[in-house]
Amino acid sequence: MDPVNIIIDGREVVTTKGKTVIQAAADAGIVIPYYCYHPKLTIAGNCRMCLIEIEKMPKLQIACNTQATEAMSVLTQSPKVLAARKAVMEFLLINHPVDCPICDQAGECWLQDYYMTHDLQASRFDARKEHDRKREIFGPNVVFDGERCIKCTRCVRFLQEITHTNELAVVNRADHSTIALFPGSVLDNPLSANVVDICPVGALTDRDFRFKVRVWYLQKTPSICPGCSTGCNISVETYQNRIARFKPRINEAVNSHWLCDEGRYCFHDLTGGPRLTTPLIRQEGGLVPTTWEHALQAVYAGLKSAGPLAGILSGRNTNEEAYLF
Ligand code: SF4
Ligand code: SF4
Ligand code: FES
Repeated sequence: MDPVNIIIDGREVVTTKGKTVIQAAADAGIVIPYYCYHPKLTIAGNCRMCLIEIEKMPKLQIACNTQATEAMSVLTQSPKVLAARKAVMEFLLINHPVDCPICDQAGECWLQDYYMTHDLQASRFDARKEHDRKREIFGPNVVFDGERCIKCTRCVRFLQEITHTNELAVVNRADHSTIALFPGSVLDNPLSANVVDICPVGALTDRDFRFKVRVWYLQKTPSICPGCSTGCNISVETYQNRIARFKPRINEAVNSHWLCDEGRYCFHDLTGGPRLTTPLIRQEGGLVPTTWEHALQAVYAGLKSAGPLAGILSGRNTNEEAYLF
């Protein structure tokens, strides 16, 4: 890979040919805000939140779609850049309902975060806001709030480029543009709930999780999905010792940024439903509850009297269980 030397905010950064400024900055630990950019999706360049100033270029450029070139000098915090980002935020919030107190995304919403870092002003908009669809069910796992959508198209690109199922599209124009299902489509592909993870705002929320707990109460524990033997990296997020949700953790060698719906919701098997809470022993007439001591003795006696044994392990076994077997 050919090295490329650039300067970001006066700091020398060495990146590689082909990288964009947003990638070079991220690699160097320099944060450039963004909404529509996602490292696993094609560049849309529509949100304009990543605007930067480049020496000798008269207009601001978007960092997500500007290649780093030798000796390029970039400013990410100049007064011109900060004013532009503030204007972008004001524009994005013009028709936004700002219903954070009842929005499930509150606490992990990029609009909230960037409002605090780049906007911090009262709305100057006193005309009637455009309204959009509320609580539209997109599929078994995902619900849409059109008024909160910033049209970043991350969800649309995910369904085009990752799942190739194309359930969603941008429809209509200007301030009537919105995200909609193709007629007759349902967002129910095996990776459908990933659109909730990549939606930077509260437009797409998880029907299973929403309104159960505020996200700032969640305790997060890095773990591995028990759903199958793939071993996707997850964050187990709990509230009062109960699992509230699984979220994917990035691991490019295993699951990249994603998690399948089956794995995402398999924790319900652990937390409820028809789960055995006492051992059962087969006696004449069927299964009857017994004590652990009694059950283990019966297992021991049964195994001892059996001939050669074979068994089937599954991805749900722990290493210790597999080793014991
Ligand atoms: S999307 Fe973000 S800013 Fe909008 S209501 Fe929800 S939490 Fe608030
Ligand atoms: S629903 Fe979310 S991910 Fe999709 S375009 Fe709107 S804001 Fe972006
Ligand atoms: S992140 Fe660059 S335009 Fe949206």
